[in-house]
Amino acid sequence: MIIRTLGAGDAEAYRTLMLEAYGAYPQAFTSSVAERAAMPLSWWEKRLSSPLDCLLGAFEEDELAGIVGLAFEPREKARHKVTLFGMYVTRAHQRKGLGRQLVEAALDEARRYPRLKLIQLTVTAGNDAAFALYQRCGFIQYGLEPLAVRVGVDYFDKIHMWRELKTD
Ligand SMILES: CC(C)(COP(=O)(O)OP(=O)(O)OC[C@H]1O[C@@H](n2cnc3c(N)ncnc32)[C@H](O)[C@@H]1OP(=O)(O)O)[C@@H](O)C(=O)NCCC(=O)NCCS
Repeated sequence: MIIRTLGAGDAEAYRTLMLEAYGAYPQAFTSSVAERAAMPLSWWEKRLSSPLDCLLGAFEEDELAGIVGLAFEPREKARHKVTLFGMYVTRAHQRKGLGRQLVEAALDEARRYPRLKLIQLTVTAGNDAAFALYQRCGFIQYGLEPLAVRVGVDYFDKIHMWRELKTD
């Protein structure tokens, strides 16, 4: 298993993986399959080339088995913050420590930027696996956003979590 930064050449694999994730876990992600399936390949390529995003992929042989993203802040007063997003491990590779390795890789990547002081994320309330993973990786809850996403007729809250980036 290797974890590396994805580039524009990984766009097809990235799109396939994320559409699978949005379909299999609709409550876990704010994006929907319909919304994202409508985007051309160039949209995914652009995302992977953007200086404001960094996507890390975990590969088993040549298969993309998991992914996590970092979104940087362009505005001067918010540039000390980074957001972890788009965390997904395919069902076949879950519960083998891959999610943990991806979060640790994202933390290591973020620590390469001396300006960054903290990392934040949101997780849908009731997603116990992801919440436990983030807690294990040192994130703590600082808020709860009521009715943050609507999936069909159901509304879900989002837990807001953060941690400092200093090594401990
Ligand atoms: C959440 C997710 C990324 C975890 O990935 P994973 O590779 O299975 O996680 P790991 O094997 O590294 O587990 C790390 C820790 O997460 C927690 N965890 C993972 N799966 C869990 C589960 N099903 N139930 C409870 N805790 C779980 C545990 O604390 C675990 O540590 P432990 O094994 O020492 O107890 C994966 O289940 C997933 O992709 N889920 C669907 C999409 C999703 O919810 N994404 C998060 C959006 S915020």
